[in-house]
Amino acid sequence: MNYRRMGASGLKLSEISLGAWVTFGEQIDDKTASAILHAAYDHGINFFDNADIYARGRAEIVMGEAIRDLPRPSLVLSSKVFWPTMEGPNGKGLSRKHILESCHASLKRMGVEYLDLYFCHRYDPETPVEEVVRAMDDLVHQGKVLYWGTSEWRGGQLAHACGVAGEGGWYPPAVEQPHYNMLVRTIVEDELVPLADELRFGMVTWSPLRSGLLSGKYNDSTPGNVRLSLERYNWLHGILNDRDLGITRKLAGVAADLGVTLPQLAIGWLLRLPQVSSVITGATRVEHVHENVKAIEVPARLTPEVLERIESILGNHPPPGD
Ligand SMILES: NC(=O)c1ccc[n+]([C@@H]2O[C@H](COP(=O)([O-])OP(=O)(O)OC[C@H]3O[C@@H](n4cnc5c(N)ncnc54)[C@H](OP(=O)(O)O)[C@@H]3O)[C@@H](O)[C@H]2O)c1
Repeated sequence: MNYRRMGASGLKLSEISLGAWVTFGEQIDDKTASAILHAAYDHGINFFDNADIYARGRAEIVMGEAIRDLPRPSLVLSSKVFWPTMEGPNGKGLSRKHILESCHASLKRMGVEYLDLYFCHRYDPETPVEEVVRAMDDLVHQGKVLYWGTSEWRGGQLAHACGVAGEGGWYPPAVEQPHYNMLVRTIVEDELVPLADELRFGMVTWSPLRSGLLSGKYNDSTPGNVRLSLERYNWLHGILNDRDLGITRKLAGVAADLGVTLPQLAIGWLLRLPQVSSVITGATRVEHVHENVKAIEVPARLTPEVLERIESILGNHPPPGD
């Protein structure tokens, strides 16, 4: 495994990380989740991503159990706050009240004393940015959170938060967690990459395989018991559109010529950007982990000719409704 600094911070993250969305506490049983997490750890993965909303809190419980026998200092654990997880008007969003309530609930479910990373899962237009920054700063001073960050915040919102933090002498966001893969590129490449160095934040990117599409498993037909066939995730089914399937089929040829698998190419290509601190992967089988970690070898094979071939396949590709 290779490790990268998270932005300008001293924290080192494994280039490949593992998240719990859809899988832990939901699509896979707890024994499989634990085996996947341990396989990842054995490969040198140190960053494990979670959120209060995943499987309505169950994902944190399952992850908490799975890490119980691992040394806490060797782990970078995260959770997130924003989406509704509690009753009533204050059971969601980024008010000081919900941030603190949700953080305490996540710590309890995971059975840990602190979170290494704590993300604002979306921007909250109903809470002043100063209230958010101060609540996060307080959590850092209390030792409950080591670094705080954002997820799916736009460049202007991040710049505002960093400015507010600078003026108040509070901890600024140290990391952003954006959606980024070969089919969804624009915000990261056009907006966040140019800002990341100036504002000193790192990026940990999500859904590198576009929920599994970029594994190639949907190229001929939709298999059973995979994410994009799950009824309760039917809002994701639009991912399976002709344009993106066409691109994916062509990318399979590039991967084959490079002697890597399509998931390895899709994940490794994201690591070509130095601003990407870690690519957060997902897995429903231990074999996925064994395969995906080898993506760290891909950037060295991305010659200018290969990058150009990939660009010509991706084209000027707008994100489909994200
Ligand atoms: N901040 C946010 O708003 C946000 C949003 C989404 C995700 N995330 C984070 O990002 C993490 C990763 O996102 P994601 O799970 O959507 O990632 P992804 O890489 O796009 O999809 C992962 C899924 O693809 C399939 N897969 C993975 N490796 C494979 C391989 N080698 N061969 C074939 N199939 C493979 C598995 O599902 P099947 O077996 O079902 O096909 C796996 O669960 C999440 O767990 C979460 O921590 C954050």
